[in-house]
Amino acid sequence: MPKFLKIYVRKVHRWLAIPTIVLIPLMIVTNKTPANLKIQKFLQIFMLALAVTGLYLLILPWWSKWNKKKNNK
Ligand code: HEM
Repeated sequence: MPKFLKIYVRKVHRWLAIPTIVLIPLMIVTNKTPANLKIQKFLQIFMLALAVTGLYLLILPWWSKWNKKKNNK
């Protein structure tokens, strides 16, 4: 896996966290108003992107360990 991708995925994950943290209380406050649906749609997209980038960050240590073992053989 290229090194720049590692850095950018971490950066994307970090910057996605900020609007997500803002949107969660906003969604609670706007309960039962028309704006609530729009906020929910944004949150779904942000959460999905966070889950995908987060999962990548999670498997990264195992991935590099596995690659090291493979290269030593
Ligand atoms: C399925 C969901 C998620 C997974 C699997 C996940 C996974 C991870 C992993 C593995 C890391 C790296 C930790 C490390 O290097 O020690 C990380 C960092 C981080 N996560 Fe998540 N995460 C998820 C969702 C979220 C959410 C919902 C937020 C906040 C709204 C969030 C905010 C952050 C932040 C701020 C960092 C630190 C990034 C940095 O500065 O390098 N994550 N996450």
